[in-house]
Amino acid sequence: MDYNQRIPNNVGLADDRSLQRALENWQPNFLHWWQDMGPESSQNFDVYLRTAISVDPQGWANFGYVKMPEYRWGIFLNPAVADRKVGFGAHRGEAAWQEVPGEYRANLRRIIVTQGDTEPASVEQQRHLGLTAPSLYDLRNLFQINVEEGRHLWAMVYLLHRHFGRDGREEADALLERRSGDADNPRILGAFNEKTPDWLAFFMFTYFTDRDGKFQLNALAESGFEPLARTTQFMLTEEAYHMFVGESGISRVMQRTCEVMNQLATDNPAKVRAAGAIDLPTIQRYLNFHSSVTLDLFGADQSSNAAIFYSSGLKGRHKETKRNDDHLLKGASYQVLDASSGTLVEREVPMLNALNEVLRDDFIRDSEAGIGRCNRVIDKAGLPHRLKLPHKAFNRRIGSLAGVRVSPDGDVVSEAEWNSRVSDWLPSDDDRAFVASLMQRVVEPGKYAGWIAPPQVPVNDQPMNFEYVRFN
Ligand SMILES: [Fe+2]
Ligand SMILES: [Fe+2]
Repeated sequence: MDYNQRIPNNVGLADDRSLQRALENWQPNFLHWWQDMGPESSQNFDVYLRTAISVDPQGWANFGYVKMPEYRWGIFLNPAVADRKVGFGAHRGEAAWQEVPGEYRANLRRIIVTQGDTEPASVEQQRHLGLTAPSLYDLRNLFQINVEEGRHLWAMVYLLHRHFGRDGREEADALLERRSGDADNPRILGAFNEKTPDWLAFFMFTYFTDRDGKFQLNALAESGFEPLARTTQFMLTEEAYHMFVGESGISRVMQRTCEVMNQLATDNPAKVRAAGAIDLPTIQRYLNFHSSVTLDLFGADQSSNAAIFYSSGLKGRHKETKRNDDHLLKGASYQVLDASSGTLVEREVPMLNALNEVLRDDFIRDSEAGIGRCNRVIDKAGLPHRLKLPHKAFNRRIGSLAGVRVSPDGDVVSEAEWNSRVSDWLPSDDDRAFVASLMQRVVEPGKYAGWIAPPQVPVNDQPMNFEYVRFN
């Protein structure tokens, strides 16, 4: 088998017999998983996809029609930085590790498995969406994200196969056995067991949850374990597109809604719905849900694991190397929100234990900026409404904030008040049923469902009515 042709890579796969043997066992199982759990009824479609065949700028975005089961999932590391040093923690200044340091082996494996588990999970969550895509453009974007999440799985499996021997191979197999939402063998993290039932949920997921991916990958891109750092650096190039699909998708939904609101001169949700668009309060409730569920992915606000991962040089902060401090953080402190008294109070805690919170706050700032860009759509339509990120403590299930009920504005409320207001704050069954009623597949090139505006620019400079997917 010509490995370099079949599996594009820059990790010397053609000369690495033990890696070949591990992948020869795993790859057929991956394809079975894709047939079972990948995009539904799509195996024979020709999809206009980009494929990474190398890490240089010309190589990582090769466009052409591909049947997804024949997609060439590749293995790429960003180019090495000569003499790279561990940038933080107890080993700061020592040469970065090319092989797994024995004492950190279990923690590194856990970090890689946790990241790896999210990749197939999102494909599983999105597997029915192709049946209701609002256009060929959107269908193609969904499939692009799905194959790239598949490649991200390959990226983590490469690390497990190449660096962790037998238990790495077992973990790689288990990544294909867990299932999103399964009662007996679920995915590791909560948000990856939620449903993504409709396209508004999909755009919110790619806006928020892929952005969590960006921040986790950024933290791992600083790792002292060089293969993990270089792998995640390359994954980030793909992640940017996933978030673009989220942000532009939300903006296009909002644009259509604003058009209807202006045509009818109304902000009455029932009238907007009757005209076949999604009212802004429903969009806000979806946003509240996906934002809060994604915030939980960062983990407990105080975590000794986070401190250990940092101090041992395995997982840094977002933009670690650009920060001006000692990169040890031993005496440093950080403000976290505490709810143990029944009210929300800021409390100063050792920063090392609060690194999940540091990353979560970086994520919130980034999310905020994007919502600001989405709001320009409403602004341009001349309407006074605004979408808003909910308060950090709203609807949290993990960490000390899980114990209190907090409104999207940040007010602590009683259980009774929560119950009476929750349908204003989170999507109700009625909201979801309404959005579901709009979901119908549009397959004519250049046409879009009535609840979403066309995109500003086509993919890869193609004409506006380009046939992104051929159904055969
Ligand atoms: Fe990913
Ligand atoms: Fe992603």
